[in-house]
Amino acid sequence: MQNPVIVALDVSEAEAALRLATQLAPVVAAFKVGSELFTSAGPEIVRKIRATGGSVFLDLKFHDIPNTVAKAVAAAVRLDVQMVTIHTSGGLEMMRAAEESAQKTAQQLGRNTPLILGVTVLTSMDSRNLSEIGAPAYVGGQVERLATLAVKAGLRGLVCSPLEIAALRRILPASIQLVTPGIRTGNEKADDQKRTLTPKEAMAAGASWLVVGRPIYAAENPRAAAEAILASLK
Ligand code: C5P
Repeated sequence: MQNPVIVALDVSEAEAALRLATQLAPVVAAFKVGSELFTSAGPEIVRKIRATGGSVFLDLKFHDIPNTVAKAVAAAVRLDVQMVTIHTSGGLEMMRAAEESAQKTAQQLGRNTPLILGVTVLTSMDSRNLSEIGAPAYVGGQVERLATLAVKAGLRGLVCSPLEIAALRRILPASIQLVTPGIRTGNEKADDQKRTLTPKEAMAAGASWLVVGRPIYAAENPRAAAEAILASLK
């Protein structure tokens, strides 16, 4: 089994992110750089993480007109990231433009095409929130609808909550990679994640990659915490 653990570097300081990346690069698959770290530390933090040998998951959830998203994805490929998120609610053409741009740019640079990952319904949204924005109120149905559209657009991966994995596995081609946050081992302090699975449960349900934040970066010994998660998967 390949190492499925992606560490969310949800810290605002470049120094803290780099310290974690240096410590963890030998034992994890990739580092997720989100809006906070990217906005405060800029593309340079991605270059520095890449220099540790770590792969980068750029989680900026692009959502714009197709031309703009295509150009943002091309910039991400030039930055040499391995995964990028876009919002599936940007529509079929936007998703197609993102995937095509990733493939074309990677080919021009002689690199592997990064995985363009579709985000469906944010887990912070419930049926009332969906109704408020004029979307069908049934969250599960909307997740499946957007996931199916993403596959039609040519995306090869999706981000989903642990509790959506099984339903998506039933309707999606087996080749689609599912990236899943909301992972808890049971040993850490309670926090704002409400619907979680353990690493082993998420992999058994059909996850391809696990995004783990606080259980690793907030642990007393992040490297030991990452190694314990890996060991729990054997
Ligand atoms: O610290 P924790 O393990 O909860 O971090 C999970 C990471 O995954 C965070 O970066 C969070 O923003 C992200 N995420 C999530 N739930 C989603 C989508 C993304 O927790 N539905």
